[in-house]
Amino acid sequence: MSYVSEHSLHDAVNKATTDLFTFAYKNVVKPYAVFNHTPDVAHDQMIRFCDVTRRVPPLMWLLRTMLDYTDPVLETTAMGVHFANPFGLSAGLDKNCEMSTLLDNAGFGFETVGSTTSRPCQGNARPWFHRLPEYDSMMVHVGLANLGSDEVIARAQQAWSKTKTMQMSVSIARTNDQLVGDLDEGIEDYCISMRRAAGRTAMVEVNISCPNTTVGEPFTADPNALDRLFTELDKIDRPQPTLVKMPLNKTWPEFKELLDVLAEHNVQGVTIANLQKDRTGMNIPRDWLGGLSGGPCTVESTELIRRVYRDYGQRFAIAGVGGVFTPQQAYDKIRAGSSLVMFITALMYRGPQQITVLKRGLAKLLKRDGFAHVGEAVGIDA
Ligand SMILES: Cc1cc2nc3c(=O)[nH]c(=O)nc-3n(C[C@H](O)[C@H](O)[C@H](O)COP(=O)(O)O)c2cc1C
Repeated sequence: MSYVSEHSLHDAVNKATTDLFTFAYKNVVKPYAVFNHTPDVAHDQMIRFCDVTRRVPPLMWLLRTMLDYTDPVLETTAMGVHFANPFGLSAGLDKNCEMSTLLDNAGFGFETVGSTTSRPCQGNARPWFHRLPEYDSMMVHVGLANLGSDEVIARAQQAWSKTKTMQMSVSIARTNDQLVGDLDEGIEDYCISMRRAAGRTAMVEVNISCPNTTVGEPFTADPNALDRLFTELDKIDRPQPTLVKMPLNKTWPEFKELLDVLAEHNVQGVTIANLQKDRTGMNIPRDWLGGLSGGPCTVESTELIRRVYRDYGQRFAIAGVGGVFTPQQAYDKIRAGSSLVMFITALMYRGPQQITVLKRGLAKLLKRDGFAHVGEAVGIDA
């Protein structure tokens, strides 16, 4: 295996391309092709752009050659899965698995498709998004729109068979539509998607903390409900590790109760955390519905990661997510206890080269501090 970091010319091209993309995204693409549209329109255009460009192999080759930064210090293994680097796309941007070719060639370590649900789901009424640039944040109120886990998981499996280095994870959630019933119906809804996902992706993430559904969050509101859900999920034979997407806004005793339940089940990792619900001190119109991504998540999610790592050690691998814009913020989450780091909002606000910015910057920080592999830094500050 030859690494970009070990070839000075390739390394210089990679750095120059990344700087160029950063400049172009900030000064041209973002003001004239993204932020000049409503966020809902910009989101749909971005998905279409990915769908068109992935069909042009020379473009994908160029993307990989110029933008994908590889470095042995970034390679890692978590929950038995090997990753070329610890960075992944968090659930929600690629709901229907349409971006994997692009993300693989751009150099993501993994991506999480979905959240997907047992039945196809239209999601909430538009608008789904509001931008809050002053907070580096998006207000998100999608409500789990997706094509259904039958289709999305089949796509993810196919994508996984084609990716060069990227691992595929699928996030499963409970359908958010008129047919939702009682708790048992909700449990069966998750089980249907879990049966479909078994053995077909590198990881599965169970999203119990979507803040934007009509039935709320019964599985984070009551540890007994969570126990019942995972008792049923445990019966589904699956070779890949399971992560659980946790809420951000619980008190520590409440959060710990949920973790104590999960510790008794077939769960290898926790993703910390979902969207920020607390708007305290922020100037946001009352009629804007949804949870906040980006800046308002950064500090709280890192502190939660630190606490979980301190109390649960190796019991759970932690995938840290929430407001990661800089290599230092990713490094903070790793030093607090994250084995993997995910993001979405930084892609929207900073551009697609952000994956390379984060990888290059993290590699530099790790080497500065004398780490041979990123895994050595996990939890060092906890
Ligand atoms: C556009 C968008 C859609 C999202 N949809 C989902 C989703 O379907 N499932 C989920 O678990 N999290 C979803 N999230 C939450 C993200 O996965 C992530 O936890 C959160 O945005 C914090 O990361 P960030 O600050 O890097 O965006 C969504 C976030 C965004 C911005």
